[in-house]
Amino acid sequence: MGVHLQPAALRNDTLLRALAREPTGYTPIWLMRQAGRYLPEYNATRAKAGSFLRLAKSPALATEVALQPLERYPLDAAILFSDILTVPDAMGLGLYFSEGEGPRFERPLRDEAAIMRLAAPDPGAELRYVLDAVRETRRALAGRVPLIGFSGSPYTLACYMIEGSGSDDWQRVKEMRYARPDLLHRILEVNARAVADYLNAQIEAGAQVAMLFDTWGGSLSAADYEEFSLAYMRPVLAALRPVPSIVFTKGGGIWLESIAASGCSAVGLDWTVDPREARSRIGNKVALQGNLDPAVLAAPDASVREQARRVLDAFGAAPGHIFNLGHGITPNARPEAVAALVDEVRAHSTKLRASRA
Ligand code: CP3
Repeated sequence: MGVHLQPAALRNDTLLRALAREPTGYTPIWLMRQAGRYLPEYNATRAKAGSFLRLAKSPALATEVALQPLERYPLDAAILFSDILTVPDAMGLGLYFSEGEGPRFERPLRDEAAIMRLAAPDPGAELRYVLDAVRETRRALAGRVPLIGFSGSPYTLACYMIEGSGSDDWQRVKEMRYARPDLLHRILEVNARAVADYLNAQIEAGAQVAMLFDTWGGSLSAADYEEFSLAYMRPVLAALRPVPSIVFTKGGGIWLESIAASGCSAVGLDWTVDPREARSRIGNKVALQGNLDPAVLAAPDASVREQARRVLDAFGAAPGHIFNLGHGITPNARPEAVAALVDEVRAHSTKLRASRA
C-alpha cells in the first residue's frame, strides 16, 4: 500500500520544461476547459452525478472527468476538475447553477455589513473536497503528465461575488469601484488571502503548476487594471509555494509587460494578441501560453490544422511556448477537431524545431 501513496515520477514533463523555458522536442499542449460539455463522456458522467456542482464536489467523479480528455488525446497536462467559484461558495455566498443561465450566488455582496463580515475560508475545511480531488487525480495520473491547479483571480472572483452572476458589463462592480472603491479594495484583500491559501493547499495536495484565471481583468479601464487586478495577483504569486505559475488575463494584451513582471512563470494570451509582438514586448523573461481562437474547433479539420500551424509559426521554435486556446473550449467544439489540433501541434512543432537546428 505504502508505495502507491507516493506519486510516481513524471514520464512526460514537457509542460514543466516549457514553463522553465528549456528546450523541448515539440510544443506541449493542453486546453483551457479541456474537460467539459463538448465530450459525450463528460456529459454522461455529469448526468450520473446529477448536476455540475455534485460532479465537482465528488472527488472520484471529478478525477474521472479530469482524465477523460487524456484518454482521447495525447495532451501534455491535466487540469484539476473544479470551478473558480468554489472559493466564494466556501465563503458562504451559496453557489448554484440555474439551467442554461450559468453560475449564480444566493447571497451576493450587496451591503457593507456583508463585505465587512467576509473572510478567507480554511481550504482544509470548506474546500476539502477540492484538495481530495487534487490528491485523487494526481494518484490516478500516476506520473503520465503534470497536474495543473487553479483559482480565479481576486478581481474575477469579486466580479461574480458582487454581481451575483455573470454579466456583459459588470454594472454593479463598476458602480462599487466608482462610488465605494474602499469596499472593492476590502473584498480584493480578502480574496487575495483566500486565493493564496487555496492555491498553496492545492500545491501541498499535489498540484504541480498553479494557474490564475483573470477572466474579467480585461473589463477594467486601462488605468484600473493595475490597481484592482494586478495589484492583488502579485501578492498571491509571491506567496505561492515554489511551482511554476501561469497568469491569464483575458483582454490583457495592453498590459503584457506588467503582467510578465508580476512574478509569474508564464503569461496566457488570448487570440487578440499577436504572438510575435508579445514576444518582442515581453522578451524572454517568461514563457507564453496560447492563443488559438477557440471558435476554430467548430470548423473542418483542415482549417483547424492550418490555424494551428499559423499559431505555432507566430510563436516560433524558441523555447517557452505552451500551446493552448485563447480562452476556454466551447460546448460546440468537435471532439475530432481537438484530435486534429493535438496531432497538428505535435507534428508541426517537431518539424519547426528540426528546420531551426
Ligand atoms: O479546464 C478544465 O477542464 C477544468 C475545469 C474548469 C471549469 N471551470 C469547469 C466548468 C475550469 C478551469 C473553470 C474555470 C472557470 N469557471 C472560469 C475561468 C476560465 C474561463 O473560462 O474564463 C470561469 C469564469 C468560471 C465560471 C463558470 N463556471 C461559468 C461562467 C460557467 C458557466 C458557463 C459554462 O461554460 O458553462 C461555469 C460552469 C462550468 N465550469 C462548466 C464546467 C465544465 C460547465 C458546467 C456544466 O457541465 O454544465
